Amino acid sequence: MRTAFEGQLQDAATVIETVLAESLDGAHPLMRGTPPRLAEAMRHGALAGGKRLRPFLVLETARLFGVGGAGVANVAAALECVHCYSLVHDDLPAMDDDDLRRGRPTVHKAFDEATAILAGDALLTLSFGLVAGAEDIAPQARLALIDALSREAGAAGMVGGQALDLSAETEVLGEAEISRMQAMKTGALIAFACEAGPVLAGAAEEDRRRLRRYGEIIGLAFQLADDLLDETADAGALGKAAGKDRARGKKTLPALHGHDWTRTKLDDLVTEASACLSHYGERAEILVETARFIANRRS
Ligand code: IPE
Ligand code: IPE
Ligand code: MG
Ligand code: MG
Ligand code: MG
Repeated sequence: MRTAFEGQLQDAATVIETVLAESLDGAHPLMRGTPPRLAEAMRHGALAGGKRLRPFLVLETARLFGVGGAGVANVAAALECVHCYSLVHDDLPAMDDDDLRRGRPTVHKAFDEATAILAGDALLTLSFGLVAGAEDIAPQARLALIDALSREAGAAGMVGGQALDLSAETEVLGEAEISRMQAMKTGALIAFACEAGPVLAGAAEEDRRRLRRYGEIIGLAFQLADDLLDETADAGALGKAAGKDRARGKKTLPALHGHDWTRTKLDDLVTEASACLSHYGERAEILVETARFIANRRS
């Protein structure tokens, strides 16, 4: 049975999917003139399935500071475009070489490799246009978000983490190095999601710092859970291949320390994430529940 939290996550996903569908429609100003096959590949990569957790975090951290509406939803959808692009490229033969994503063929399988590369490029580029064009957000906040997104998604963030993930396939890594790689490849976008709320609200620097720290902790938990699920779940539940990380030489903490250690670590991270939010009391309960969901998820 679905929990109340899962219902809230699903409601947010519906909102985000509506914005994503509008943004990826041929009639959208940023999409007009897109070659049809490229547009189809972009929609394949972004529209079907996915937990939509990062945009949910944008919506909820914004709500914590009393802001919502179309502009916030646009920023949330923009971040999901970056995430979807990262998955399209992550699945390419030159990277993780996966055929299944969100229960469907990966973009390079459904189309071809070149189209998947270009669809990823176009989703990334679109995301900046969506933030720039979110007219009901103050220009200063838009600029701050574009600046932060470029850092967190780029070479010093997600892309850099993906580079480390690939080079680590043939290296020996310790716990600190693995954690650093996870913080970059997955933590950076999740930290951006959590910092986006206070930025959108023009909240105090201290609020930004607290929410960012919360994001960094749940970001680590998110990848830890992903790596554990690779070893414990099956493709049917995950909608993507399972049991491949060890075979490919991926460096993960479950592989280094085992499953019991990983479960304990996940519990510790939930406690640590909750502590970052204690300042906000009951108002932040949904974010505490999000941390629990991330640590205990089954897909
Ligand atoms: C998968 O992310 C990639 C990682 C960073 C581990 P998600 O588990 O959020 O994937 P979707 O969006 O729900 O498909
Ligand atoms: C992906 O990590 C992180 C990204 C930045 C896309 P994984 O390679 O473990 O993600 P999955 O398991 O393919 O979803
Ligand atoms: Mg990968
Ligand atoms: Mg992968
Ligand atoms: Mg994985």
